[in-house]
Amino acid sequence: MHRQTFYATTPIYYVNDVPHIGHAYTTVAADVLARAHRMMGRDVFFLTGTDEHGQKVQEAAGRRGVAPQAHCDDLVVRFQKLWKRLDISNDDFIRTTEDRHKAVVRNVLQVLHDKGEIYRDTYEGWYCVPCERFWTEKEIAQGNCPDCGRPVERVTESNYFFKMGKYRDRLVAHIRANPGFIRPEPRRNEVLGFLTRELGDLCISRPKSRLAWGIELPFDPSFVTYVWFDALVNYISAPGYGAPGSLFERFWPADVHLIGKDILTTHAVYWSTMLMALGLQLPRTIFAHGWWTVEGEKMSKSRGNVVDPNGVVEAYGADPFRYYLLSQMTFGADGDFSFERFVARYNGDLANALGNLLSRLVSMIEKYFGGTIPAPSPDSFGDWARVESACPAGAGGLRTVREAFPDEIPARYADLDFKELLERIWTAVYGINEFIDKSAPWNLAKDEGKRPLLSTVMFVAADQLRRVAVFLTPVMPAACGEILARLGASPASRFEEAGGAWDAALAGKRVVKGISLFPRIEVAKAGAA
Ligand code: ME8
Repeated sequence: MHRQTFYATTPIYYVNDVPHIGHAYTTVAADVLARAHRMMGRDVFFLTGTDEHGQKVQEAAGRRGVAPQAHCDDLVVRFQKLWKRLDISNDDFIRTTEDRHKAVVRNVLQVLHDKGEIYRDTYEGWYCVPCERFWTEKEIAQGNCPDCGRPVERVTESNYFFKMGKYRDRLVAHIRANPGFIRPEPRRNEVLGFLTRELGDLCISRPKSRLAWGIELPFDPSFVTYVWFDALVNYISAPGYGAPGSLFERFWPADVHLIGKDILTTHAVYWSTMLMALGLQLPRTIFAHGWWTVEGEKMSKSRGNVVDPNGVVEAYGADPFRYYLLSQMTFGADGDFSFERFVARYNGDLANALGNLLSRLVSMIEKYFGGTIPAPSPDSFGDWARVESACPAGAGGLRTVREAFPDEIPARYADLDFKELLERIWTAVYGINEFIDKSAPWNLAKDEGKRPLLSTVMFVAADQLRRVAVFLTPVMPAACGEILARLGASPASRFEEAGGAWDAALAGKRVVKGISLFPRIEVAKAGAA
């Protein structure tokens, strides 16, 4: 039997952009989702990539005096390197200048042209060069682009159009019938609001005389493809649309297109109608997350406040950055990156709570049991109720991890409920710390008669921390691998490993002492990062 599949994507980022916290956010969230689904046993395809055609790339290459392709080849590395550093587990990386992508774009254009979905017309409108799109008279405010605020130009052009408008009613019906199609709810309403107006056709070409850096239309070589039409096709070109036996056949429709709210219309409207015209299924979910500001301000090059993830990762590691991004903001809402808050969360949640739990537990097992995780006392093993009564601390929190988390945590991952699931996991981290405090192993160790109870306490604490590390692996893969290794366990590959009865195999394993997993950030030094 085939395993159930899961296909997740990020936007393909403009290769010209310097990757910043916003790009990192979408990519990390998609990575966590992909990792979580792998740990649920699903067959996962996780795609990211870069958007490399269009006027801005052509101009930037011109300014550097290099050919556009060479320019892209130089710049794409910044994304690829950052994703490696951030431990992104993408299965593929698509560049829109690759032949495999260009071939599918041409194929799609030809198919739609043959079906009569594309026609030629003369168009007069206001064009914004930086945004590479036309605006209507009504849309432009005082002669400027409604999106970026820069001046627009009057352009008259003969171009090719995709008959997008005729799909409006079908799209509205689809959105209404599928509440999970556009998420979260406010974004769905935004799209429905947008669709109450008449939906025009989409200009999908640019004359080569004005823009040469693009994919030539297969039916008219004097034009190239509009960059958004080109870019959206990446979601089907990468898995090999059109090739028999391809990943496309196995994975389409995509389960989640993760995007920022800035590109909701292009995905919910342009892409959906393109798929309808092609006779393909729509993605199951388009999830548009919120916007990051930095220290309360919009991020921009001119303000000089663009957060470079490389600096944060270099100073504090990938996992703390991944943790911060997902724990700081409710997925879907807007959020603010503040260095002070990053330090506070790092020191509080990671250094003091999780890191300290690991190091004190390992030290105690070293001290009281020579570094070997003890077996719980025989008369309590396998019988939670007896352990509960034998242990001086209330074990409710511990029981939750064992009994409720195996269903709850994977479900929250699947629902992109990252902030809440991390809060739940941290209640468990605090719960284990409290369990140790209340059990007071240092007192039990003084009394030989309490040795069986001391064994049970150490074993239970180690097994609980092991479970927490399994549940947390999608968010902090390297740190959790390290926690598990120090407890003598292997890296987690399935959530199942964290459910069920006590892991008797843990007893007898040797713990490994090591350097502090999350050394505290001293605030005086922190400003340098
Ligand atoms: O739009 N907060 O690429 P892009 C949160 N090439 N997310 C942010 C962000 C911020 N401040 N800034 C950027 C494009 N993002 C097209 C996409 S897809 C077929 C083509 C993230 O480089 C967010 O995911 O401008 C947003 O949607 C994406 O970067 C835009 O990246």
